[in-house]
Amino acid sequence: MARNSFTTSLLLTLTIFITITISSSHQPLALKPKPQFFGKFASSTNHSHSHQQSNFHYETRFFQQQLDHFSFKKSPKFPQRYLINTDNWVAGSGPIFLYCGNEGDIVWFAQNTGFVWEIAPRFGAMVVFPEHRYYGESVPFGSKEAAYKNASMLGFLNAEQALADFAVLITDLKQNLSAEACPVVLFGGSYGGMLAAWMRLKYPNIAIGALASSAPILQFEDIVPLETFYDIVSNGFKRESSTCFNYIKQSWDEIESKGQTTDGLDFLTKTFNFCQKLKSTGDLWGWLESAYSYLAMVNYPYPSEFLMPLPGNPIKEVCRRIDGGPTGTSILERIYEGVNVYYNYTGEIKCFELDDDPHGLSGWDWQACTEMVMPMSCSKESSMYPPYEYNYSSFEEDCFKKFGVKPRPRWITTEFGGHNIHKVLKHFGSNIIFSNGLLDPWSGGSVLQDISESIVSLVTKEGAHHIDLRASTKNDPDWLVNQRATEIKLIQGWINDYYQESQAVYEVKIPSSLSKILSSLSKIIGF
Ligand SMILES: *[C@@H]1O[C@H](CO)[C@@H](O)[C@H](O)[C@H]1NC(C)=O
Ligand SMILES: *[C@@H]1O[C@H](CO)[C@@H](O)[C@H](O)[C@H]1NC(C)=O
Ligand SMILES: *[C@@H]1O[C@H](CO)[C@@H](O)[C@H](O)[C@H]1NC(C)=O
Ligand SMILES: *[C@@H]1O[C@H](CO)[C@@H](O)[C@H](O)[C@H]1NC(C)=O
Ligand SMILES: *[C@@H]1O[C@H](CO)[C@@H](O)[C@H](O)[C@H]1NC(C)=O
Repeated sequence: MARNSFTTSLLLTLTIFITITISSSHQPLALKPKPQFFGKFASSTNHSHSHQQSNFHYETRFFQQQLDHFSFKKSPKFPQRYLINTDNWVAGSGPIFLYCGNEGDIVWFAQNTGFVWEIAPRFGAMVVFPEHRYYGESVPFGSKEAAYKNASMLGFLNAEQALADFAVLITDLKQNLSAEACPVVLFGGSYGGMLAAWMRLKYPNIAIGALASSAPILQFEDIVPLETFYDIVSNGFKRESSTCFNYIKQSWDEIESKGQTTDGLDFLTKTFNFCQKLKSTGDLWGWLESAYSYLAMVNYPYPSEFLMPLPGNPIKEVCRRIDGGPTGTSILERIYEGVNVYYNYTGEIKCFELDDDPHGLSGWDWQACTEMVMPMSCSKESSMYPPYEYNYSSFEEDCFKKFGVKPRPRWITTEFGGHNIHKVLKHFGSNIIFSNGLLDPWSGGSVLQDISESIVSLVTKEGAHHIDLRASTKNDPDWLVNQRATEIKLIQGWINDYYQESQAVYEVKIPSSLSKILSSLSKIIGF
């Protein structure tokens, strides 16, 4: 989930028509945060995941899914893709590990959720990764063009329908595999983690527990301070180097003053090596802001390739380059050197593209403009971004221009809760792990304290965006190894309880003497 903030102009450049309007009108600039977990600029290269692919394999299947679960009007079905592996499954009784697909290609998420694949064998578990509707290959109305055409076609893209998809799919799959008795454990990271937590609360009949990693279910309305996200990003840079933080903080004005003229925009285009000429400084702001936010999310202690190929502790490396320029290096040259770590670590990029969406994540714009309204501001004091105060009216205007819809900012908390969550869930619900790393800017909107004995929070100081769900590596620090061990223990506990309780129910229902009589009876009368 990723593009976290955007200028008005960047938001609007998504349509060519509006780009023209923008470039001719001089809008006052503000970095208008528009949260996205993984969005544009998440990867500008099609780097292969070949070395990861050997860790797991799966079969790809399609399920004819109901387009609208909440109307009995005749509606078309759509093919929902899911990945499945039953190699380790103890047929008929082993657990089912269900990953709640999030806003992108499910193969990409599967590749970056090694934890689930790795632990399946020890549980004798089946692994299922259903794709989220409207993403990847799970697109209704025959094509992405048709599905994304307008608000009526996009109207079926929401979290409620997606959860119902998972519930319907898994129920059908269990029936097909004679797996009705198998406990389902949910997994999810980021938006997928939100779905996992909500699904456990909404469908306790379907799943016995959920590991919700980096799931900002509290990033709505005013539940957490609006500055939290960008403050955490900024702290990630400040903790490495305050000069680095200050260079970034100063760079926005520098860009803004350069960008006043066409020559200035040419200069910025050259300085940052863009393939196409910059149309506005807003585009550059958005591009930089995304890089910093993503860097904070994937500030993993070892080299990784989730959003981009990156070194371990990438923010440290960015700051090393920003700070390291010889005396006389301009602020913008320093910034260029720094973001090269994010956009060009392999050194293979000839020039930078401003329009890039390799993982097919564009549907998040729609979700953000309807129910996933996550307000964010940038603090003047503590953030390294230009100050910005969240303005709902202007957000609403942008959404209306783009999709012809008005957001419903209070819907998510009405549907799934969020306010006073500790009080509300203390006596309702069970078996949810909220895991978070405090380096992750999304941790600010997540559950960071235990709610009850079985709705628990696992917090690591040095963790970033759902690092616990990633495949283990030789370089895993102890805190990560321990975090995963705790998760495994808790999941094991849910499964044990489930089997014990099923056993107890079975024994109560059919005491053994009766069961003997029944079985001989059944032989006689043949039922
Ligand atoms: C990315 O690489 C894979 C494997 O090499 C290839 O199948 C796929 O078509 C490529 N995608 C794009 C968008 O280039
Ligand atoms: C959206 O597009 C479909 C297919 O072209 C059309 O039938 C429908 O009327 C459109 N809806 C709106 C609100 O424009
Ligand atoms: C279950 O089996 C039916 C009949 O073969 C098939 O159409 C359906 O897609 C299967 N369900 C799933 C979830 O694969
Ligand atoms: C990427 O890095 C290489 C090697 O440092 C450099 O030659 C190239 O110009 C960089 N690409 C961009 C777009 O700056
Ligand atoms: C918020 O946005 C609206 C609509 O664009 C605008 O009229 C209003 O002045 C803005 N409010 C503030 C405080 O900037």
